[in-house]
Amino acid sequence: MALQKKGMHGSWASRWTFIMAATGSAVGLGNMWKFPYVAGSNGGGAFVLIYLLCILIIGVPVMMAEVLIGRQGRQSPINSVNDLVANSHINKAWLSIGWFGVIAGLLILSFYAVIAGWALKYIVLMATGDLQGVDGTSASSVFESVLADPIGLIFWQTVFLFFCVIVVMGGVKKGLGLAIEILMPILFVVIFLLFVFCLFNTNVLEAMKFLFSFDLSNLSGRSLLEAMGQAFFTLSIGMGAIMAYGAYMPQDASIGKTVLTVAFFDSLVAIISGIIIFSIVFSTSGLEPTAGPGLMFISLPIAFGNMTGGLLVGTLFFVLVSIAAWSSAISLLEPSVAWLMEEKNLGRVNANLLVVLVAWILGIGSVFSFNIWQNSMIFNFTFFDFLDFLTSNIMLPITGLLIAIFVGYVMSPKIINEQIGFKSSIKSIWMFLLKFIAPCAVSVVFVAGILDKFSNG
Ligand code: PFF
Repeated sequence: MALQKKGMHGSWASRWTFIMAATGSAVGLGNMWKFPYVAGSNGGGAFVLIYLLCILIIGVPVMMAEVLIGRQGRQSPINSVNDLVANSHINKAWLSIGWFGVIAGLLILSFYAVIAGWALKYIVLMATGDLQGVDGTSASSVFESVLADPIGLIFWQTVFLFFCVIVVMGGVKKGLGLAIEILMPILFVVIFLLFVFCLFNTNVLEAMKFLFSFDLSNLSGRSLLEAMGQAFFTLSIGMGAIMAYGAYMPQDASIGKTVLTVAFFDSLVAIISGIIIFSIVFSTSGLEPTAGPGLMFISLPIAFGNMTGGLLVGTLFFVLVSIAAWSSAISLLEPSVAWLMEEKNLGRVNANLLVVLVAWILGIGSVFSFNIWQNSMIFNFTFFDFLDFLTSNIMLPITGLLIAIFVGYVMSPKIINEQIGFKSSIKSIWMFLLKFIAPCAVSVVFVAGILDKFSNG
């Protein structure tokens, strides 16, 4: 059975397609919408330093471990882990890695599609000139009226999920691979154009000062946890997406080099997005870097609405955000779709529709958190905030920790050597980070963050 299932989904055309697919998964709302507002709410500099450190010493090693498990198993995350557990006769509790991942993926997809829906709505608002000449008050009221309309939000969430289904239905080569080969280069060109625009028209120096002046004194346990959660979220690790993509990776590609390339591109896009957003914030009076989830949707239209060529640049920006969200969301779908195909004998189309339906229903809870359930709290969080906190700051780090321990201590060294196959110095650094640094760092930050959160509310 396992042999039959292996490789049934096909594989990427080349190592380069894998790099683009993984970068497509990593670069998304997490970089352009979430990173700037979370960095802004946590005071900038010090948060950014911890975030980059988490990417390097936790994110990269865990991501390599995930790709390794996927490429060894060549199936959905659940079945790849299943095979390893069955063949190595180890405790079945390790199966939780695959399950945790698939559940976290579904939960993330549910709210991710809602925020991506905002971006789609903003393409229309920008392009039709509705945001021309807005100031702080009118931009906020446009944003508030977008959030106050549950039917509109559900409509855009549905449109976004529809686009995702179309791509994932096409399969690995013709659907995911093709879409990514077209989307990723467009994304990099647009972000580069926006960056050049900001260099000449806005306060880039101030933005750099905000993002890179490291003052560690104002870091709390909670912000450490948020920096680590953001590192997991942005690299798409701790939930199987990268494991699923690793299953389609050519055998001769180097896992180490590939993962470092993806982490580099991902961090670059986050930092450049941060510079773009904050340079606009700092050159427009009345805007605050601490504005929260509305940062991108309130502040940028003010800037775009008041600059020459802003209509075009603004429309382009929201197209870019939507493309980035799209290439990430398809990787959130893939683990569950691949599993349903293997285990339930569903075709790709039906598996897709089923997963999207679950995400769509759950997503309605997030839609309501911005209007009719605005005041209904779970542990002081709205439904949307609760899902975001639960997945990024709890589920992804815990699954990441389990993956580090599994590959670092439990998996057979023979398999690791076959898959990693690079010079011993790099391998020993990776193993050291995976065995000692990542588990300690995740545990300490996790405990500090949770204590801080629940002692301060
Ligand atoms: N990495 C994506 C982003 O930064 O927007 C979000 C994401 C995609 C998280 C896929 C997790 C995942 F598996």
